[in-house]
Order: sequence, then structure tokens, then C-alpha cells
Amino acid sequence: MTDASSRAPVSLLWSIPDDARAIAAVHATLFPTPWEPDAVQALIEHPAAVSLVAALPGRKIVGFVIAQIAADEAEILSIGVAADTQRQGIGRKLLDGTIRAATRAEARRLYLDVAESNSAARALYAACGFAEAGRRKAYYTLPDGAREDAFLLARDLVKV
Ligand SMILES: CC(C)(COP(=O)(O)OP(=O)(O)OC[C@H]1O[C@@H](n2cnc3c(N)ncnc32)[C@H](O)[C@@H]1OP(=O)(O)O)[C@@H](O)C(=O)NCCC(=O)NCCS
Repeated sequence: MTDASSRAPVSLLWSIPDDARAIAAVHATLFPTPWEPDAVQALIEHPAAVSLVAALPGRKIVGFVIAQIAADEAEILSIGVAADTQRQGIGRKLLDGTIRAATRAEARRLYLDVAESNSAARALYAACGFAEAGRRKAYYTLPDGAREDAFLLARDLVKV
């Protein structure tokens, strides 16, 4: 992607099943364990899902978030922004959209897990009001087989 296209306007859109392949493709560039497009589609189609994509003109997907709501709690299952469009406010846009959607769906608290070493994501979550709610020992398996702790983060959702 050129610099010019990476600065094109980014829209925040509800995910549709046809986005599954593109979401899985972005996910595979960011996480060590890729998700199959069919699995992504099932998550998007789940009745409790809140899923958004960040897209350039032509619905070129550069970011995604998939969350689920259960009773009055919501959880972000995955969020990612393509490497060449990171640090342009897209992650924040996806997170703010999820917070708005989960709040509208009557969730009272939003949770997510983040690896201890993931300083970019931890900075984003801190900027969006998340705080530590727990620690999961050896939660993630790294590509070399080593284990890493995760922080469970949470944020209250307040209807205005
Ligand atoms: C985490 C991630 C989604 C952030 O997306 P992004 O679009 O780059 O984030 P934004 O541009 O919206 O950043 C918003 C704020 O988060 C913080 N932040 C984001 N990336 C950062 C980085 N690399 N280093 C430090 N702070 C960072 C900053 O406070 C930033 O605000 P600023 O740019 O005004 O300083 C992206 O880095 C990503 O996809 N990472 C790989 C996948 C991943 O780790 N997902 C989260 C799993 S829990």
C-alpha cells in the first residue's frame, strides 16, 4: 500500500459475512495463530456478536474488531489493524465503536485479554479507560512454545 492510499479516509462499518475472508487475512498478518475465514464468519454471524471493520474506499479492510455480549458483559475476542495503517487512530476508532455498540446493547462492562508484552495494545486500552481486572498466568503460547501472561482488562460502560 502506498502512503497516499494508507491516508485515504477510513470508514467504520458493521462487519458482514462477506468480510470474513478479508478479516482473516488481516488477522493472519498480526497473530501467530491464524483464524480460518469460516470461523471468522461464524463469529460475525453469532447473534451476540458486535463486529466492526475499518475500511478504505472500496471496502478494503484494514482493521477489525470482534466482540460478544453475554447478559450485561461484553468481551473483545480480537482486534487488529493492518501494520501499514497502524498509528493513524484506526484502533481507537474500532475500540470506541465497540464501546458505543456494547453500551447501546445494554452491556455494563467490557472485558479483553492482552499479552503482557503487547505495549502498543496496552497503551491503546489505557487511553480508552481500561484498567487491570486480573492476570492470567501463562495464558498465551508464543511461536517458540514459550508461555506469556495476559492481563484481563475491563472498562465500565456508562449510558449517557
Ligand atoms: C493494538 C492496535 C490494534 C492499535 O491500533 P492502531 O490503529 O495502531 O492504534 P491507534 O493509532 O488508534 O492508537 C491509539 C493510541 O494507542 C496508543 N498506541 C497505539 N500503538 C502504539 C504503539 N505502537 N506504541 C505506543 N502507543 C501506542 C497510543 O496512545 C495511541 O495514540 P497516539 O497515536 O495519539 O499516541 C495495533 O497495534 C495492532 O493491530 N496490533 C497487532 C494486533 C494486536 O496486538 N491486537 C490487540 C490484541 S489484545
